[in-house]
Amino acid sequence: MTQQGLLAGKCAFISGASSGIGAAAARVFCREGAVVMLVARRGEKLDALTRELRGKGYEAHYTTADVARGAEVAEAVDRTLDRFGRLDVAFNNAGVGAAQVPLHVMEDELYDLIMDTNVRGVWNCMRHQIPAMLARGGAIVNTSSTAGLVATPVAAPYIASKHAVLGLTKAAAAEYASRGIRINAIAPGSTRSEMIDDWLEQEPGAEELLRGAAPLPRIAEPEEIAEAAAWLGSDRASFVVGATVPVDGGWTVR
Ligand SMILES: NC(=O)c1ccc[n+]([C@@H]2O[C@H](COP(=O)([O-])OP(=O)(O)OC[C@H]3O[C@@H](n4cnc5c(N)ncnc54)[C@H](OP(=O)(O)O)[C@@H]3O)[C@@H](O)[C@H]2O)c1
Repeated sequence: MTQQGLLAGKCAFISGASSGIGAAAARVFCREGAVVMLVARRGEKLDALTRELRGKGYEAHYTTADVARGAEVAEAVDRTLDRFGRLDVAFNNAGVGAAQVPLHVMEDELYDLIMDTNVRGVWNCMRHQIPAMLARGGAIVNTSSTAGLVATPVAAPYIASKHAVLGLTKAAAAEYASRGIRINAIAPGSTRSEMIDDWLEQEPGAEELLRGAAPLPRIAEPEEIAEAAAWLGSDRASFVVGATVPVDGGWTVR
């Protein structure tokens, strides 16, 4: 653990760390001085990232968990406490997306998958992280989306799920701020990752559409999103509570 950086001395839990924004956050959080517990379902990806980070001299560990399952999240938080003795920062970032499918023909299974991962996943994480933070305080950052602020061209349950993440964030922030836990959300715009690459492959012309929709006409790199999460999780954001920070190249200003 280094003593320099935005997150110097912090013990962090990052869900959805096996790719995209979460993997970028693992690199950014380590660079900023945190020790990290990386969480997702694909152990081989987490293992490779953990080795990469250790190779750079950082302290990184991983544990596999499906965020939709409360018992697995509880175990992941326990492993974090076993390893570090405490939890200072949690980045609840795991999520699944889906290309736009007309609502009236969408299968219930897709609705369940999106809601169970994106909403119950954040619920499961906060439920088990908050007790681990109550004694010393902490910071939680949840990943919503521009789809949590406005309707975007993605599946309706995804939009509903990301609005719900903001509701959970605000409710928990109001409940726990006075007990030393700051809880906020980020709302990323279009960001290079497995999720969006899959979608762009299915929708010819979508990339041009996305680029043209933001005042800053490009797709973000995952590190650009992770930087905002690192700041919100740090003591430098000490008076930021229950906020949603868009990281979207201005996509939601119009
Ligand atoms: N990319 C964008 O344009 C964009 C925009 C706005 C918001 N977001 C949000 O950003 C977050 C990260 O997505 P990304 O863009 O980085 O996409 P990604 O590369 O597909 O990453 C998604 C991550 O979530 C994990 N995950 C999915 N289901 C999980 C489950 N049930 N349990 C545990 N982990 C699970 C995946 O790991 P495993 O498969 O190994 O479990 C992976 O690490 C998501 O919440 C997404 O909704 C993305």
